Amino acid sequence: MTDSYVAIPAPAKPQRTPRAARYAMTPPDFFAVDYAINPWMDVGTPVDVRLARAQWQHLHRTYLRLGHRVDVIEPVPGLPDMVYAANGGFIAGDVAIVARFRFAERAGESRAYAEWMSSVGYRPVSTRHVNEGQGDLLMAGDVVLAGYGFRTDRRAHPEIAAALGMPVVSLELVDPRFYHLDTALAVLDDRTIAFYPPAFSAAAQDRLHALFPDAIVVGSADAYVFGLNAVSDGLHVVMPAAATGFAAQLLDAGFRPVGVDLSELLKGGGSVKCCTLEVFP
Ligand code: ARG
Repeated sequence: MTDSYVAIPAPAKPQRTPRAARYAMTPPDFFAVDYAINPWMDVGTPVDVRLARAQWQHLHRTYLRLGHRVDVIEPVPGLPDMVYAANGGFIAGDVAIVARFRFAERAGESRAYAEWMSSVGYRPVSTRHVNEGQGDLLMAGDVVLAGYGFRTDRRAHPEIAAALGMPVVSLELVDPRFYHLDTALAVLDDRTIAFYPPAFSAAAQDRLHALFPDAIVVGSADAYVFGLNAVSDGLHVVMPAAATGFAAQLLDAGFRPVGVDLSELLKGGGSVKCCTLEVFP
């Protein structure tokens, strides 16, 4: 009797290609937790601004090391949440939409971000309804994924679609801990996302599975350390280091996780993606 062995090759991981990206970031010089507008913020918890700055600088250097361009925006005293630059707006091509914030505490940021947009050559447009920029609006290939339920008003979605000339997919968020879309969903490349289903309504979950059959479904442990608040260039995924399960899933899918620690910024309810406004060509 002869045994024959057939070597079964491991399934090839998809080839991932990085693109050169452009980001904008605002240093946390005036960062504080002086008010609580999301469940992560506790005004009793002291914030170490020096540590926040060091962690932010490490993120900034990480992007430069990966070959990306980063514009640095001037922070404004009295606007402690300005470090979460993703919320400043949404820029794609020659269209720059400036945020309109839900809470009065952040309203002053709109002007600061509009001024920055003008200073780099855009003519910022505003929406009638609340939109919290890339906190709730994520570019995925040729559509914009748009969250609503806590911050961005659903009625802003058609305004955004018209301004950009792009289809917008509205997704309802249902868990207040995941109050912005970018806390529960990461775009990894034009066709691939990762998300935490319990943060979404059943209809939104169905929509995401239908649009992204290869979606990476992330578990609670990773979601609760803000693992999905990540920035991908198509290969490298800069993400909170504590989300080790998600990092393993990314490796398995052919991405390269790059873990960073933004523990001080987590006290305000944000991490990597919140601190990064992506500027799309
Ligand atoms: N403290 C800020 C707020 O509640 C955090 C914003 C986080 N940003 C984000 N893109 N999810 O508005």
